[in-house]
Amino acid sequence: MASAADPIPASNLPPFPHHSLTVATIDLSALAHNLVQIRRRLSPSCDILAVVKADAYGHGAVGISQALVRSGINRLGVATIDEGLALREAGVRVSVLVMGAVLPNQLPDLMAHQLTPVIHDPSIAARFAELAQSRPEPYPVHVKVDTGMGRLGLRPEEVLPMLQSPSFKGPLRAEGLMTHLADADNQNPEFTMAQLTRFRSVVGQLAAAGLSLPLLHVANSAAIFRHPSAHFSLVRPGIMLYGYSPIPVIESPPDLRPVLSLTTQVVQVRALAPGESVSYNRAFVATRSSRIAVLPIGYADGYNRSLSNRGHVLIHGCEARIVGRVCMDMTMVDVTDIPSVMPGDEAVLIGRQGSRQISAADLAAWLETIPYEILCAIGPRAPRVYR
Ligand SMILES: Cc1ncc(COP(=O)(O)O)c(C=O)c1O
Repeated sequence: MASAADPIPASNLPPFPHHSLTVATIDLSALAHNLVQIRRRLSPSCDILAVVKADAYGHGAVGISQALVRSGINRLGVATIDEGLALREAGVRVSVLVMGAVLPNQLPDLMAHQLTPVIHDPSIAARFAELAQSRPEPYPVHVKVDTGMGRLGLRPEEVLPMLQSPSFKGPLRAEGLMTHLADADNQNPEFTMAQLTRFRSVVGQLAAAGLSLPLLHVANSAAIFRHPSAHFSLVRPGIMLYGYSPIPVIESPPDLRPVLSLTTQVVQVRALAPGESVSYNRAFVATRSSRIAVLPIGYADGYNRSLSNRGHVLIHGCEARIVGRVCMDMTMVDVTDIPSVMPGDEAVLIGRQGSRQISAADLAAWLETIPYEILCAIGPRAPRVYR
């Protein structure tokens, strides 16, 4: 006779629908709106490489990329080869630039799936050229020059010698030259201007040697807004696509719409007598008769533990304060002053409810970080639902 401890035969299992009470809803009309806001700032000769790394900043790279391609985007940027492969596996066929570092042992897979690497070091170019030698056509690559980010890239004086080396006389074709700005969100443009001068000087050296690369790209979201002189032939927006300004305090904020809402449902409402406590370490002790709603979301979902006793969610259109420690899978909020909260009621962690709204920028302010980190942290347990 079968006992409860026996493994369940696979054939006895029903299909697996989603049961998550926590859902990230992705508003594709907001994405399209933000794309229009970006396009409005660009000259007709400037194209967009949409940055969809880190699972499209938590929004789901496949769903976002497919929507962007439908809106006419034909260049995407990811950080890793695996992110690029996931797009290819989902049938995304447009150009995908792998912007992060690629090491030689990763190159065969990258080429097999027609991903475009960024060369950040002359030694990688030489190794890559060896691997690409047998191909009928030169393999397209972008070259990254470090003009001041102090992170990844060739030094300005290394670019011309590398492009004149045998690697670029057959096996490889330099399709693009890029750099990344370290301080484009700063009101003081001095450092950005210095980076642009260094970039232009490299472009000038290449031109003087008879080399012109079709794609020059520098601008992230902040530079798209602040520095039209950084637009060149491509721009690389990330955070703006998802509805957030890259510049925390700005005189005339861009008209952007947050794309992601994060909601969950109340699973229990508990009565608390004065002196009773909530969650680990008793970090919240009731000073009055209270009602506490339990939410099935925690730091494993990217709802940061530092929100313990800090910040709020929206229930019935009202602010419900987070009380006690945020746990791995649960968070408790005070609903004493919100009438008739019941299990099943919606709680909004990011998004709008009634006349109130919580944005990823609000969470970032509570946590002393940036909206990027809030969005990227939202974990895989919350299904991304596109509408
Ligand atoms: C190389 C590169 N380009 C563009 C971006 C997009 O930046 P943002 O999200 O600020 O627009 C990033 C993101 O960090 C990046 O690493």
